[in-house]
Amino acid sequence: MEQLDYDVIIVGSGLAGLRTAIEVLRKDGGKLGIRVALISKLYLMRSHSVSAEGGTSAVLYPEEGDSFELYAWDTIKGSDFLADQDVVWKFVHLATQETRLIERWGVPWNRRDDGRIEQRWFGGLSFPRATYAQDKTGFFEMRALYDTLLKYDAWDRFDEHFVTSLVLDGNKFVGFNTIDLKTGNMRFFRGKAGVIATGGNGQMYRITSTASSSTGDGYGIAYNAGIPLKDMEFVQFHPTGLVPKGLLITEAARGEGAYLKNADGERFMKKYAPSKMELAPRDIVSRSIMTEIREGRGVKDEATGIQHVWLDMTHLGKEKIEQKLPFIREMGFKYVGIDIVNEPMPVRPTTHYEMGGIHTDIDGKVQSLNGPIKGLWAAGEAACVSVQGSNRLGSNGTNECLVYGYIVGNDIYNYISNDKPLLPEVPAGKLEHEQERIFSGILGRESGGEDVYQIKDELKDTMEKYVHVYRTAEELETAVKMVRGLKERYKNIRLTDRGSTFNYNLQHALELGFLLDQAELTSLGALMRTESRGAHARLDYPNRDDEHWLKHTLAVKGTEGPNLSYLPVRITMWKPVARVY
Ligand code: FUM
Repeated sequence: MEQLDYDVIIVGSGLAGLRTAIEVLRKDGGKLGIRVALISKLYLMRSHSVSAEGGTSAVLYPEEGDSFELYAWDTIKGSDFLADQDVVWKFVHLATQETRLIERWGVPWNRRDDGRIEQRWFGGLSFPRATYAQDKTGFFEMRALYDTLLKYDAWDRFDEHFVTSLVLDGNKFVGFNTIDLKTGNMRFFRGKAGVIATGGNGQMYRITSTASSSTGDGYGIAYNAGIPLKDMEFVQFHPTGLVPKGLLITEAARGEGAYLKNADGERFMKKYAPSKMELAPRDIVSRSIMTEIREGRGVKDEATGIQHVWLDMTHLGKEKIEQKLPFIREMGFKYVGIDIVNEPMPVRPTTHYEMGGIHTDIDGKVQSLNGPIKGLWAAGEAACVSVQGSNRLGSNGTNECLVYGYIVGNDIYNYISNDKPLLPEVPAGKLEHEQERIFSGILGRESGGEDVYQIKDELKDTMEKYVHVYRTAEELETAVKMVRGLKERYKNIRLTDRGSTFNYNLQHALELGFLLDQAELTSLGALMRTESRGAHARLDYPNRDDEHWLKHTLAVKGTEGPNLSYLPVRITMWKPVARVY
């Protein structure tokens, strides 16, 4: 197998990956001659980060009433007290630096009449601190980072390389196995430092705002290498997914004043969050929508039979919509044939974000159950540094990527410059074993007749039906059983495409393997957690239970399935209180 050596290998070219690469290169400035490899299964600018819409929070105006304390409080209360509070405190401070920095790198933040950066309301905020570039914030952020990265020479991009596994030597990072999708050949990337920044896993579900590339690859390779995944039961449902597919209709619509209405035309949020109304945190708004639907006040979509509510922007006026929400108007025209200036949009909760992820410390260093994995970091949605707890506030996603890209990049530079690590030895047989697993075990397998796409379809339906906004023991037990059944069938998949060039059948098979494991962890973690907290709402355990469950779930792969253990939440500032909006 071809082997490529780099100082730093970053997997994932979304906001977290790009920001990490820039920070390593910027800090080095050629001093140590650090070389970076940036690997993506996509083309660089096609990462899902480009789809982020509404905004990215930061404290910009203390003189107008905002503060780090207020931002930290909003985030911790929004997290339903599962966020590690020392992490939140660090994060809220660095978000300001990052927001100003990327403006200098080219993000065209919307401006106020006085010329200063404009901010808007998002759910769960006590101050309108979501900084934004129209309703295409992620695209502009990605473009600015990409342009900035082009200023540096010491990096190489490996687009359309699918990472199949993470190679460790004990508790030390060695490298990543990949398939070069163009040739079908495997390539091994060996490095002094590795970063997993591969985003989330929304493709476990049928209705999702995430790109088809959000298949939890980073979680998968970490889990298979024995690294714990943390808090995977906390899947965020964004309240306003466009019916029928679940495409993101930004929370900024409600930030700009949109109403949610049921079949009777009632602004139902007054029953659930009277002070915040449509701008309650996402978990609460999603539950409110599902309650309206369950109690018969939803609207049935004629074509699909899907139940939904209305997102009404008609009172905002054409000028405001054109200025602040042009992309949402375009989506109305293109996907459902309506003009939001005159008609409401059909919306319902859609899976949007994985609060859990690869277990890291406060600096993004990946942790095993018995200490750090030397030379390995994770950042962005792939990581669970635990800033988001059990419910992320809208506008706290892209800034986590930026802040943690900065922290991780900086940490890696310090590691290389202080510890002076050498390129690691590759443990004997590891690469041959991976080649065998992929080429003989999956691609070349002659027996078995299970179809990848059939299993994936059944997985999506299972998760959509049994591991949704509201959960019960009975449903979760069913989900665990069904997912385990799918995992058994997965052992007998047979690919129809045996070719080498752009064999998406093989890629989808590997992605499905990751998703099945994560669906098992999400369902099992949710079944074990006998309380309701943030995005995890149990009808049979409707209350938060701090006495027993103020703790993170850790899931490690065992021979018979996942082994779960628990870790205390770090409470440094505020004791949990009732969460009322
Ligand atoms: O609604 C949105 O624009 C999404 C933002 C986020 O997830 O932070």
